[in-house]
Amino acid sequence: MFSKNYSTAKRVQVFSSKGEFEKAKKLMIEMSENYKVLIDLFPENTQEGFDTEALLTIWDEKDDFNALMQKASDDMIKLTSVIENAEDIKGTLKQFMWSNCKACHNRYREEH
Ligand code: HEC
Repeated sequence: MFSKNYSTAKRVQVFSSKGEFEKAKKLMIEMSENYKVLIDLFPENTQEGFDTEALLTIWDEKDDFNALMQKASDDMIKLTSVIENAEDIKGTLKQFMWSNCKACHNRYREEH
């Protein structure tokens, strides 16, 4: 699921930089939906017995985690309305898309 988000995010970047905003927007909405599904993939009872890189703090700070996920989802929707008129496409993608990946990974994902 996260890997898919990653490849989708890269396609968003490619389409946006080529000016193919309609295609990019469709993918942004897809990602936004994806994040909402992900919120449900970390239910209370999955913290044990799975081979996962997700840190246990996720379950200690479930509200914060869900809030970050929700923000990531909301920002993808915002992105659909700002991207076309953005002067700095790359910077805008960074602000509304990539920064959310980083914000969450820094806190909730183990180093490799
Ligand atoms: C709200 C939290 C959160 C956000 C936002 C988030 N991630 Fe993640 N990501 C995680 C967690 C937690 C894991 C570890 C999941 C696991 O191992 O079960 C992960 C794992 C991954 C992985 C490794 C997947 C795998 O199969 O090993 C990739 C790639 C990834 N994220 C990409 C992204 C990208 C790209 C974005 C933004 C476009 C993003 N993530 C946004 C929390 C987040």
